[in-house]
Amino acid sequence: MSADSFKPLASVSTQNTRVLSGMRPTGRLHLGHYHGVLKNWLELQHEYECFFFIADWHALTTHYEDPSIIPGSAREMLIDWLATGINPGSATLFVQSRVPEHAELHLLLSMITPLGWLERVPTYKDQQDKLKELDLSTYGFLGYPLLQSADILMYKAGRVPVGEDQVAHVELTREVARRFNHVYGREPDFEARVEKAKKKMGKKNAKLFDKLQRRYREQGDQEALDVARALIQGQANITLADRERLSGHLEGGGRVILPEPQALLTKASKMPGLDGQKMSKSYDNIIALRDTPQEVEKAIKTMPTDPARVRRTDPGDPEKCPVWQFHQIYSNDEVRKWVRKGCRSAEIGCIDCKQPVIEAVLGELIPIQQRIKEYEAQPDLVRRILNDGCERAREVARETIDEVRHAMSLVML
Ligand code: TRP
Ligand code: SF4
Repeated sequence: MSADSFKPLASVSTQNTRVLSGMRPTGRLHLGHYHGVLKNWLELQHEYECFFFIADWHALTTHYEDPSIIPGSAREMLIDWLATGINPGSATLFVQSRVPEHAELHLLLSMITPLGWLERVPTYKDQQDKLKELDLSTYGFLGYPLLQSADILMYKAGRVPVGEDQVAHVELTREVARRFNHVYGREPDFEARVEKAKKKMGKKNAKLFDKLQRRYREQGDQEALDVARALIQGQANITLADRERLSGHLEGGGRVILPEPQALLTKASKMPGLDGQKMSKSYDNIIALRDTPQEVEKAIKTMPTDPARVRRTDPGDPEKCPVWQFHQIYSNDEVRKWVRKGCRSAEIGCIDCKQPVIEAVLGELIPIQQRIKEYEAQPDLVRRILNDGCERAREVARETIDEVRHAMSLVML
């Protein structure tokens, strides 16, 4: 049985099928988000079971003194996601604070997380240095990568699309999961239970499983690992816990309760800002998804160009011009040829050169803005989408929290 004919449960079997990612609602979405993150999500939502969430608690870790920007940003963020084509039918969309299980998991994971692991996360010091105007010497800020670990482990996501700066957080998540499984995945009768689970698979499958396990453990054969995982997933008559035991046994540990995720590195966004640096709110060089056509036009018209082109008759070099970077994203070969030639020979002026960029950016934004308008006009629909997503997320979260509570001996009589 192939992995994709198997309905994913909240178990180790989600490792190859589930994706989770989040965004902090601390401002307007811009073209950098669209080209760097959302287009990636749009593809992933067809291939995987996706959970995308609005990380409002994460926003509080830096914006606790003035959280008033959060609710509006969150609402617009959700609508912008929908307007770009994120489909609530294929992806579960939710708000972190509406799934309070995240807070419980964060707390429980904090029990086994050494302080040093958090202090060594590069963003901890970097952000404190970078955001000097904020006092980030708080408990919440130190713990925020662990909150992110809780977000990820809650859904047992195998893949986490993140930018370069967040890879260390996924790495921390892996360490925390490993530690958790090591400490709480040990059952006194683990080996006996594994044997029992194998028996339930039938003789032939059990033998195949042993063979694959040896090939993986002795020769590091990755393919054998994948086949064995699929074999486990394909077993209809074993329990979830048995699946986890077999997975743990396969990889040489105890029972895997929280599977280790992998970062799905999002290529650095090619989208430059208006000044040629990376597009970012903090550089004040963005084109927001909701900017009016007039604002977009004005922003592009006032973009800096090759400083050598003081007069219209001075030739320029596209390599020294941020407008050229926009052409590389938005223009076809023909237009680019026209730019290269026209710029170097001063046959075209910068205003001419910018015109196709203005048209292409507007061509991209106007349909998105049209859909934004449609969603804005249907607040009930948007609310329903969010409520459904939160409820779906919560079902998974409750399941995981239940397992974690059991593993950590938090069970009532
Ligand atoms: N910390 C991420 C950021 O600042 C947002 C985030 C929160 C996230 N939880 C996550 C991303 C879990 C991926 C997975 O962009
Ligand atoms: Fe830049 Fe185009 Fe002007 Fe050349 S002609 S400097 S590429 S805007």
